[in-house]
Amino acid sequence: MIHAVERPEAHTPTHCTPEQYAAMYRASVDTPDAFWLDQARRLDWVKAPTIGGQWSYDPVAIAWFADGQLNLCHNAVDRHLPTHADTTALIFEPDDPAGESRSLTYGQLHAEVVRMANALKSLGVTRGERVTIYMPMILEGVVAMLACARLGAVHSVVFGGFSPEALAGRIEDCGSRFVVTADEGLRGGKHIPLKANVDAALAHPGTDVAGVLVIPHTGGDIAMQEGRDHWLADLASDADCPCEVMNAEDPLFILYTSGSTGKPKGVLHTTGGYGVWTATTFHYIFDYQPGEVFWCTADIGWVTGHSYVVYGPLMNAATAVVFEGVPNYPDHGRFWDVVDKHGVNIIYTAPTAIRALMREGDAHVTSRSRASLRLLGSVGEPINPEAWRWYFDVVGEGRCPIIDTWWQTETGGCMITTLPGAHDMKPGSAGLPFFGIRPQLVDNEGAVLEGATEGNLTITHSWPGQARTIYGDHDRFGQTYFSTYTGKYFTGDGCKRDEDGYYWITGRVDDVINVSGHRMGTAEVESALVLHARVAEAAVVGYPHDIKGQGIYCYVTLNAGEEGTDALLAELKAHVRKEIGPIATPDVIHFTDGLPKTRSGKIMRRILRKIAENDFGSLGDTSTLADPGLVDRLIDGRQNR
Ligand code: WTA
Repeated sequence: MIHAVERPEAHTPTHCTPEQYAAMYRASVDTPDAFWLDQARRLDWVKAPTIGGQWSYDPVAIAWFADGQLNLCHNAVDRHLPTHADTTALIFEPDDPAGESRSLTYGQLHAEVVRMANALKSLGVTRGERVTIYMPMILEGVVAMLACARLGAVHSVVFGGFSPEALAGRIEDCGSRFVVTADEGLRGGKHIPLKANVDAALAHPGTDVAGVLVIPHTGGDIAMQEGRDHWLADLASDADCPCEVMNAEDPLFILYTSGSTGKPKGVLHTTGGYGVWTATTFHYIFDYQPGEVFWCTADIGWVTGHSYVVYGPLMNAATAVVFEGVPNYPDHGRFWDVVDKHGVNIIYTAPTAIRALMREGDAHVTSRSRASLRLLGSVGEPINPEAWRWYFDVVGEGRCPIIDTWWQTETGGCMITTLPGAHDMKPGSAGLPFFGIRPQLVDNEGAVLEGATEGNLTITHSWPGQARTIYGDHDRFGQTYFSTYTGKYFTGDGCKRDEDGYYWITGRVDDVINVSGHRMGTAEVESALVLHARVAEAAVVGYPHDIKGQGIYCYVTLNAGEEGTDALLAELKAHVRKEIGPIATPDVIHFTDGLPKTRSGKIMRRILRKIAENDFGSLGDTSTLADPGLVDRLIDGRQNR
């Protein structure tokens, strides 16, 4: 039995009381168009919309505010100039704590965005072009995103930890002809060769890139290709650079994310709906007060960085921290040093970081003041109650509410969370649906489950921040999200609902795993493994991991005559890192002489998952296996490691 935690007294609700939440939620589902047209007034429109949602899930077509026109760079930057030119917009905290932290006011941010936008323009970037951004967590990464939005170009940010191969695939998929990068990145004291990775990616025959804009960061030695590569300073100018007037449904960005099958998909978000969703969720969920400092620790390479490092805070004229480093460098107190140094009031991070820091003991936390903290956020994976308690009791000293926000790349922004001050919290539960969100739990056959129950999480009605398509493959969009349960958006997550209507996400029910809060398709890791000359077959599953949430467990069969030596094991790990990136490094490689298959040749992943979980008692019916003795050999193999 988990008891509700009372709302901490110290938090005075300002943006939303429990009564307001109830009334607003009702209005948002009873009259969604009126509700969202009203919320849309948070933004500055060139032409205010008069139409709310126009959507169908069968066939799939989604639009919001279709007759509105606006520019999100204008909303994030220019519109604040008359009132907030001297307000700090962004604070940069470098990887090296002794390095220079730098901040930009809204006035300065405007100047930087104009300079970068002019540079992109001179490279030939125009409205509708896709621009790949492969950057460290430095201010210029944010500036590059805003500069694209200013020009009406579509940004595709690729996480700086992805390999040249992964980068090339993403550049190719969206036909991106421009790349913005830095000489190098820094993380935990290590240099990340970003420009060299771009060079390697652009050597792939499928890429066709006309211009690379390079931002100097570490001063590391890099090669510049004549005619293609340009330093920002050589192209930047302060010339007037007006914001393009965009239609609400014009694309804003593509962000690649992993699914159950195949290559990563380019999730596409548009301008008006995404803008309204991130501005509104930021306002209510983070309960931001003027003058406060907000810190989302996510990288801009992930959706959390898009929505809550960049668009959500800036559209609310907030002050946001951009952190280049990692939680354990130079020591495990770094987060709290950053909190104290910049007076952070709201921190938004992932359970994997919380668990990793918890393991190092309380002294790293209690030795820092943290007096400025007012609200603690969690995102990216289920937070186990033990980590929740530690975050609440030790980090927040019992005075800061926790918001556990469930959402996805495809949802654009937060979907299920308690609101600070308005709701009791339950450790491990994300809480209640945000305005306009109508979750529905269904069984595997699609039958709707009522009351306190457990099932597959679907959303029945569209919301403004919903992804509109997969870039270049609308059929796959329909197939992936709307065909499992016809007429509903299927999240891929399992979920419980309790007597109080609180939602408890139990994790993915598809072949996606969540490793340290990073989404990973098991199929992607499998494809990488089988590219190796000595590998015959691979099946990859997730298994519980104390720090990462889930670890990557790979069953590998080798070509005839090959032996599963320690040297080959190390080689395969390095191979996956090279193909995808360090975040995909296998935790376990289990060499086996076969994979459990049905007589028709289908791999029985359920059995592989159970064995990886060390759960041998409930393997279910193995009688349909082509080689029933294999299961015992796999169990032996598991127990011996
Ligand atoms: C998981 C990250 C439990 C979930 C914003 C989802 C969560 C996937 C939570 C999306 C949470 C995210 N509690 N699980 N608060 N937040 N997830 O696209 O499995 O990188 O489907 O978006 O992360 O990951 P994505």
